[in-house]
Amino acid sequence: MTVSSAPGKVYLFGEHAVVYGEPAVPCAIERRARVTVEQRADDKLRVQADNLSLDGFTVEYGGRTDGHPDVDVPEHLITAAMGYVDEAIEQVRDVTEEPDAGFDVIIESDIPLGAGLGSSAAVVVAAIDAATRELGATLEVDELAERAFQTEYAVQDGQASRADTFCSATGGAVRVEGEDCRRIDAPDLPIVIGFDGGAGETGELVSGVRALREEYAFAADTVETIGNVVRRGEAALEDGNLEEVGRLMDFNHGLLSALGVSSRSLDTMVWAARDADALGAKLTGAGGGGCIVALDQTEASETALRFTPGCEDAFRAELAETGVKRLE
Ligand code: PMV
Repeated sequence: MTVSSAPGKVYLFGEHAVVYGEPAVPCAIERRARVTVEQRADDKLRVQADNLSLDGFTVEYGGRTDGHPDVDVPEHLITAAMGYVDEAIEQVRDVTEEPDAGFDVIIESDIPLGAGLGSSAAVVVAAIDAATRELGATLEVDELAERAFQTEYAVQDGQASRADTFCSATGGAVRVEGEDCRRIDAPDLPIVIGFDGGAGETGELVSGVRALREEYAFAADTVETIGNVVRRGEAALEDGNLEEVGRLMDFNHGLLSALGVSSRSLDTMVWAARDADALGAKLTGAGGGGCIVALDQTEASETALRFTPGCEDAFRAELAETGVKRLE
């Protein structure tokens, strides 16, 4: 039996624009997916996901991936989660040259599904790491990140950047621009997350931005402007200037809103944090619903979010310095 865990992430800057080659800065957070893997005597795959998320999204599911789980979460989220595990195991069979390897896989995660916190990337990174180690191979972190990216790329029909998977594999704050991925120095960030209990459809949201970009030159300019905000954001992080980081996060949220990927609940949570004097607040991830990230050294934003209608959960998240953790 082999166990690995990997963290979720927030985007401090640059989601969506990263799809068009602009830089993005995600940051790993201490909310983890933990995957336990045991090799089977046959070539089958059995996936058990007892708790794939926070309150409101509990999945009680034991069965083969081709079964029909009896669950209380939207079917597309389960199909998606299981699709990621199937493809991750394909990557493991390929990299270990053991095409007939079968596994029992148990997934536990405290990252809300599809809510902009990188739940799928964390599951994929931890699953590939645990399953390769179960077969006696240990991947370098860069190779692990690359295999995890290939998994997301396949499952998401080519609509995936390297941001989530690289960040989850390496931990810390990272900078991603096309194929160039690296860790960057970041100060201690007072991260607060608000979650509306929902999830956006990443594929649809990415396609929506693509269509806007094709229709309006100013939408393409907006994407480029996000890139400029990210570059200023990187400099502010390097200087440890949290006020400037917050101001630029506000700017980034406005531009994402203009591209149509925010929602009433995300905007409401962003404004609740701003009214509580957060240094800055923005949606994180694909948008449409899910999570916002705010920076606040005081308790005010978290408290305000807890009392905000439409906010299901609010919590502080530490930056995760370590990406993948090899537990057993
Ligand atoms: O919602 P998430 O965590 O899957 O993030 C999506 C981020 C996008 O930039 C919209 C797409 C991508 O793959 O980078």
